[in-house]
Amino acid sequence: MTLETIASTPIEGQKPGTSGLRKKTHIFMQPHYLENFIAAIWIGIGGVAGKILVLGGDGRYFNDRAAQVILRMAAASGAKKIIIGQDALLSTPAASNLIRKRKADGGIILSASHNPGGPEEDFGVKFNTPNGGPAPEEVTERIFEATKSINSYEIIATQDVDISTLGTTSLADMEIEVVDPVADYQTLMETLFDFDKIRDLLNSGFSLRFDALHAITGPYATAILEGALGAAPGSVVNGIPLPDFGKGHPDPNPIWAKDLVEHMMAKDAPDFGAASDGDGDRNMIMGSGIYITPSDSVAILAANAELVPAYRGNMTGVARSMPTSRALDRVAKDLGIECYETPTGWKFFGNLLDAGKATICGEESAGTGSNHIREKDGLWAVLFWLNILAETRLSVAEIMEKHCRQYGRNYYSRHDYEAIDTEVANDLMQALRAKLSTLAGEVINGRKITNADDFAYDDPVDGSHSKNQGVCLEMEGGARIVFRLSGTGTEGATLRVYLEDLVEDPDRMDLDPQEALADMIAIADTVAEISSRTGRTEPDVRT
Ligand code: G1P
Ligand code: ZN
Repeated sequence: MTLETIASTPIEGQKPGTSGLRKKTHIFMQPHYLENFIAAIWIGIGGVAGKILVLGGDGRYFNDRAAQVILRMAAASGAKKIIIGQDALLSTPAASNLIRKRKADGGIILSASHNPGGPEEDFGVKFNTPNGGPAPEEVTERIFEATKSINSYEIIATQDVDISTLGTTSLADMEIEVVDPVADYQTLMETLFDFDKIRDLLNSGFSLRFDALHAITGPYATAILEGALGAAPGSVVNGIPLPDFGKGHPDPNPIWAKDLVEHMMAKDAPDFGAASDGDGDRNMIMGSGIYITPSDSVAILAANAELVPAYRGNMTGVARSMPTSRALDRVAKDLGIECYETPTGWKFFGNLLDAGKATICGEESAGTGSNHIREKDGLWAVLFWLNILAETRLSVAEIMEKHCRQYGRNYYSRHDYEAIDTEVANDLMQALRAKLSTLAGEVINGRKITNADDFAYDDPVDGSHSKNQGVCLEMEGGARIVFRLSGTGTEGATLRVYLEDLVEDPDRMDLDPQEALADMIAIADTVAEISSRTGRTEPDVRT
């Protein structure tokens, strides 16, 4: 076992995006690529010597190899201890929990979330801070700065460490504790929800289908839903994590979780359906014959928080990302609590959660979570829903109907135009920004724009300022259109167009969202010139 200092040179483009550094796997596998970035993390966090880190990933191709490299680099740079999930597996929420529970100095999560996995697909590395949340921009900036001047890194030359056996081992002077990836997470869930009530529901003939999409939540869902809560064996499908996620996109939305949608829309559908993503932080919620949008889901959770033990009497505030629909705002108003509007990305919720300003947070991109950890949490959302269903004994559709009757319905859809030419995408956004000052007051396709701006955020806790977070057009009657470019894509640019319209007429609660939003779709194209600039007449994905 020898400590080696390997000469290297800075590699361009190692700038962390919305959620860590994400690249094609073969790029991560190039000589020094992963190593340079890890060395930059050590610099960005002020060195790893003497520190305790959590390490794990979603099991995608290269997860195990990358984990071994990180162990050797951490040991070489004097880390005190690494707590690693067995076989280097940890869902993102479980990693966040471990960092917090063990008071670690942070953690490294190996994942590209919902992006496909495999040698030709995507890989990612994310650093989380001691609060268990994704590193804030100030830290990722330091890491990026460091990538620009790396000229060597330290690593120990040795055989692979055995990370398949639970218990403690070591590498040079560094301790390695291999933990069960599920156990601590399950314990946490038991403290938040009424497991007895949910068990009663599941024993009363209530059926569910959880599609793990061949990704990390398989073992978690099997242990918790089938094991602890007694869901019928086979309720969890595609429950064995695969390095290529069975060649699918582990993205829980109606496009990529089509099989679940088909089951839930069938005549003999289960009462409840759900899916999670590659690393377990996203969720999709369905009932028999109904899909609940993530924006509605977070609003429903907040509205029913009194039914759930950990949240009863504990709702200090809520938060949503700017493009997420304003259904949550209406609930907050009713509850008399603040609703914060943040830029896209879970990292912006961290300060609000730490400061006790928000209890429940959500993003339209299927991310929902709370102050129990500092990441969004797919299974948590599933258990929250099950707890509500167990208390009310209403169906998912009845809960939704009741919600709309009380708050109105914020029809919502996101249209994604993927892999468009980066220059075309940037020009489109620039042209939109250039028009902002003249848009307010204009009437387009019969709707009056009341406000047009480029969203900027002043963090109410640390005062940090984030600008250019997306162009937002507000319209009369509670409608909105938001345009932004994805910060997680790995190919060209992805234009996201978020469409929302509020309907309060009780007779118009059951429209098809695409029809209800037809005006908004037309306005979006008129204002941003999407079809003429990109040549696309249809989005690639509608969620
Ligand atoms: C996407 C989602 C965003 C989420 C992020 C990480 O980012 O839109 O809400 O936080 O993935 O899961 P985007 O590609 O839009 O930058
Ligand atoms: Zn994810």
